[in-house]
Amino acid sequence: MVGATAVEGNQPGVARVVTDPTAPVSRRILIVEDDTSTREVLAKFIKKEGHACATATDASDALQQMTSWQPDVVVSDVKMPGMDGLQLFGLIRQHFPTTSVIIMTGYGSVSDAVELMKRGASDYLLKPIHLPQLKAVIEDAIARKQAREKAGQNGAAHAARPELRSADHGVSLEEFANGLLTALRLRMDEGRSHALRVADLAHRLAEAMHLAPTSRQAIRVAALIHDVGKIGIDNAILSKPAAELTPEEELIFHTHPLLSARVVEAMPGLKQIAEAVRHHHERFDGEGYPDGLMGTAIPFGARIIAVANTYDRMVFGADAPACTPEQAIETIATESGKAFDFRVCPVLNQVVERTGEADSWLL
Ligand SMILES: [Fe+2]
Repeated sequence: MVGATAVEGNQPGVARVVTDPTAPVSRRILIVEDDTSTREVLAKFIKKEGHACATATDASDALQQMTSWQPDVVVSDVKMPGMDGLQLFGLIRQHFPTTSVIIMTGYGSVSDAVELMKRGASDYLLKPIHLPQLKAVIEDAIARKQAREKAGQNGAAHAARPELRSADHGVSLEEFANGLLTALRLRMDEGRSHALRVADLAHRLAEAMHLAPTSRQAIRVAALIHDVGKIGIDNAILSKPAAELTPEEELIFHTHPLLSARVVEAMPGLKQIAEAVRHHHERFDGEGYPDGLMGTAIPFGARIIAVANTYDRMVFGADAPACTPEQAIETIATESGKAFDFRVCPVLNQVVERTGEADSWLL
């Protein structure tokens, strides 16, 4: 509380020492709000109160700033395009456990806010925001964070942050990917189990093709999160069989690899994973999306995930009659060199026959 180092404005590198021991502690506050005027009013007020303040327009932007800027307090709207405040809160709780989160909500969403309070949110504010009340809850949130730090949780938080930046693609990245899958599960019941099966098969394909352990692990993590961007796609589109989508809906659906990649691409050390995620719907003949890459221009991890993803959709998918593993392998083989890399297709046959994984996936 006393003798604190304060950070001015939005530049965390520019610091001044507070010499007055009774002066309020200056902290980093992140505002997550899609409405521009509300965002600007809140940021101006918080800076005037002596805190450093940054803003994010959506949850994806906020997650990037959580990693790069490490705010002490997040003040987040609930209803936002794409990932909403509830999903964002879950990810912050999991990966930045000492960060205090204040929820802003309208009268119609109070039950959501109360639920988040039960799960550990510091406080909630009803819109329109009363600025003196905002000041009070921020001070309280800062005090809570200090208490958690003093209680020894600070060590765990600092351990978690470098793991997200790590380039060794270890267990911590899997935990991060699993957190994202939890958010996806809020939108799509089958999304998580599909992702786990695809990750399992993609990893085995990579292993059978003798890729290095770090590459195999990167492909596994990329496969886990390949469809996380569907969080940002309207439910009306997600619930339709692909064949029934209108051209406009199809265009929107085709943005999901970009949305998935955006979650991880700003994180240092995760470029390989982001590239594999972005291109998992490219075709070997250049007729895929989002970029129409062809052949070896498609990252190898994406070519492996494309085969694993298609196999899983054919055997376990909800919007087509289920194939047997043998039928799926045969159909994929006919697309060798067209939709899929001709080097990966034969390996699918080896992996499925060797492991009998289809039976284990049904458990
Ligand atoms: Fe996908």
